[in-house]
Amino acid sequence: MTALESSFSRMGSQLTGSAIRQMGILAAGRPDLISFAPGYPDPATFAWDAYRSIADDLLSAGDGETLQYGPTRGFGPLIETLVPRLRARGIACNSEHLLLTTGSQQAVDLVTRLFVDPGDVVLVELPTFTGAIAAFRSAGAHLVGVRQDEEGLDITHLDAVVAAERAAGRRVKFLYVIPNFQNPTGGLLSLPRRRALLDWSVRADVPIVEDDPYGDLWFPDVTRPEETRPMKADDDQERVIYLQSTSKTLAPTFRTAWIVAPTAVIERLDVAKQSADLCSSSLDQRIVLEAITRGVLDAQLPRLRQVYAEKRDVMSRALATHVGDLASWRAPRGGFFLWVQLPDGIDARALLPAAVAAQVIYVAGAPFFVDGTGANAMRLAFSAATASRIEEGIARLAAVIRTAA
Ligand SMILES: Cc1ncc(COP(=O)(O)O)c(C=O)c1O
Repeated sequence: MTALESSFSRMGSQLTGSAIRQMGILAAGRPDLISFAPGYPDPATFAWDAYRSIADDLLSAGDGETLQYGPTRGFGPLIETLVPRLRARGIACNSEHLLLTTGSQQAVDLVTRLFVDPGDVVLVELPTFTGAIAAFRSAGAHLVGVRQDEEGLDITHLDAVVAAERAAGRRVKFLYVIPNFQNPTGGLLSLPRRRALLDWSVRADVPIVEDDPYGDLWFPDVTRPEETRPMKADDDQERVIYLQSTSKTLAPTFRTAWIVAPTAVIERLDVAKQSADLCSSSLDQRIVLEAITRGVLDAQLPRLRQVYAEKRDVMSRALATHVGDLASWRAPRGGFFLWVQLPDGIDARALLPAAVAAQVIYVAGAPFFVDGTGANAMRLAFSAATASRIEEGIARLAAVIRTAA
């Protein structure tokens, strides 16, 4: 160990890389490798022409503010533009209830910093998004998983878990939940369960952090938009902190997302963000504003729903053809992910070297579970690959699974 390494903080030396990011790195620069690993949007859907002319207009205008530091809270005109859009989704908010962040990953991180002391409990779905797990762990959170059934989080288990944690003398700080087309399962929390969760939040006195990057990506053949109604829309007791991002609808590179929360919370998050990055990119926020006001985002959404629903079909069909007798899955009703359950005894992580050799990758299930389960599951993102590569990749993957079955 070098002198510098021996000076790492306890947290610094314990940091572990995300399984998703590691897979992403593996795939970079290897065109033969078919990647179902990271939840990347399809680059063919990016609105290249619109971004080119928006960026050209912004940079030609020569307004110094465009390349300058901006307010930590975010670019005012973008916040003002988001308010009516959030209201249209049922969320009663004003500009003082919003903070723009550098991606919703930063939103998760800032909320965690504001609420969590080392040893505090954060409740998460079993399974949940690894990026959120990493943010919670780096704050020293005690992560406790809650089971899900067909409709989403199991409220009876939630009650039992909270009672057990409190009996052990721990403080339960919040429940982190991804209601729409969850990462990693693709699941949609039912409307009755959303209402039950809001009631639970009041009854148990535990806030909810609602992370919603996929809510706009409902598949028209099987999902009504009303079914994606944010819990925040019915949050009359101010229990919910709502996160939304443009990464999956416009493009991840703009790193533009937002938090909707009561004013007192937003003010503290603003201070927390000051020490994280001073402000998000002024240029990126202006591009996002223009993409919204010029109608790029609204024109994009129906197309995205169509593109991703078709890819879901291609992947489901390929799975049925190649591993229909072995694996099980539920076709998602929106979003980017298909969650595959393998027969008991098959460890998806142990299959990875063979999969890499066969030029196909995915994310193994275990890292999404905070309770050490999930070995015989895998997350397949159908979002980025083309239809023909999805078919080819599933054929390769099936051959790997068969050698272990
Ligand atoms: C549930 C969830 N939250 C947050 C993020 C991070 O998104 P962003 O690009 O906005 O930081 C992702 C990205 O995959 C996600 O799936």
